[in-house]
Amino acid sequence: MFLQPRFSEDEQKVCKIVLDTYKQLLEIKTMVISDLNTNYSEAVAKLHIQGISTGFISSLGINFVTSLYEAIAQNKHSFGFVAQEDGKVLGFVAFTTNLSKLYKSVILKKGCRFVLLLAGKMFSLRQIKKMFETLFYPSRVKKMDLPCAELLSLVVAEEARGRGVAAELVKKGLEACRTRGIPKVKVLVGASNEPANKLYRNCGFELVGQIDNHGVISNIYSAQTDSIQSGRI
Ligand SMILES: CC(C)(COP(=O)(O)OP(=O)(O)OC[C@H]1O[C@@H](n2cnc3c(N)ncnc32)[C@H](O)[C@@H]1OP(=O)(O)O)[C@@H](O)C(=O)NCCC(=O)NCCS
Repeated sequence: MFLQPRFSEDEQKVCKIVLDTYKQLLEIKTMVISDLNTNYSEAVAKLHIQGISTGFISSLGINFVTSLYEAIAQNKHSFGFVAQEDGKVLGFVAFTTNLSKLYKSVILKKGCRFVLLLAGKMFSLRQIKKMFETLFYPSRVKKMDLPCAELLSLVVAEEARGRGVAAELVKKGLEACRTRGIPKVKVLVGASNEPANKLYRNCGFELVGQIDNHGVISNIYSAQTDSIQSGRI
């Protein structure tokens, strides 16, 4: 015959807390941030299309966007980071050190491939206008005396939002800019995109202007990369 251990109510409560904490500890997953390389291009392109679904680039299709991130991962004027957990890509951020140089370099090296990928797609006048605005926007912001380096895109998978993944990616990117000797970085974001505006402000970006991009008002922010080192972020 087994004797039932007699636990007081308080002891039972403590046992439950200990067991629940153990369970939580076993379930904790660790997020890893790695360099964006070509192995991640497709996963990153999928996230871009899901997260920035109304953007012009997303409208160009998965093959085009995958090739774009392949080019960003390979080009010396751009770089990025991906956040992963259990081998699943949770989010990414992409930067350029100089957008004009990146465009020129990508067009020279991959122009034919991009033309082939776009061949067969019917473009409306509105889309052609957007394409030109996207291509020539660097010369428009040049007049505004802004930093050359830019945060190009940032997306976190819906199910991973609100856990600080984006803030970690931005921090990692600003650190990488600082180690490359880049003092300031800009970012353009839709003025109505509240989560992203709040995130950038939280990460040390300051509003420096606005631009009409594809008929939508975008806020332009700038951040000093040494604010990472001084612990202000
Ligand atoms: C914007 C986005 C990248 C934020 O990703 P995230 O991982 O959820 O952000 P974080 O968890 O790191 O949040 C950091 C800060 O951002 C702000 N933030 C994030 N999500 C927010 C939301 N839904 N509403 C308000 N603020 C929000 C908060 O200030 C948060 O700080 P807090 O924890 O002190 O409140 C994500 O919502 C996303 O992918 N959106 C679609 C794509 C996009 O808009 N990209 C940006 C333009 S390129």
